[in-house]
Amino acid sequence: MSDHKLSSRLFSTRIDIPTDVRVQVVSILNQTLAATLDLKTQTKQAHWNVKGTDFYQLHELFDELAGELEEYVDLVAERITALGGYALGTARIAASNSILPEFPFEAIDGKEHVTALADRFAPYAKHIRDAIAKTNDLGDADTADIYTEISRTIDKRLWFLEAHLQASPAKADNGAATTTKTQKTAAVR
Ligand SMILES: [Fe+2]
Repeated sequence: MSDHKLSSRLFSTRIDIPTDVRVQVVSILNQTLAATLDLKTQTKQAHWNVKGTDFYQLHELFDELAGELEEYVDLVAERITALGGYALGTARIAASNSILPEFPFEAIDGKEHVTALADRFAPYAKHIRDAIAKTNDLGDADTADIYTEISRTIDKRLWFLEAHLQASPAKADNGAATTTKTQKTAAVR
């Protein structure tokens, strides 16, 4: 059976959400499941392989992020089954359905690993935020709430990653003594 057919396979349930809504929500959730599994394994990849003077703190941070993503894998998969859907969560399906690019295996030091993860947490954060709007529009407030919970943490984690990469405003301006508030804001983007 194709992934598409499996994703639209519904089991009978007494839940009071119309079938057409459940099909669409399950499809979105299966996209999220693939991306979350992919991001979790990529974060573990960084946890194992990062090197350099910041090794230990990044090794620990990446493991914490991977642990949260593992919880979201379960949260998303079980929302799919609660809706009568079929969760598509094998490594093969995740690899073929994920919206994220493959991990850059040339990354070695801390900055390269943090950059690689920030470049993947950002599109994942966008996907999650888009899903809040889509599932709200479909009238499934509970799934939208799950997405909102994930979104809040992922935005925070993107900040944690990017804080390693953002230069101080003074350095970004080559040590200029006077930096306007607008310039400071621009420098941390
Ligand atoms: Fe470990």
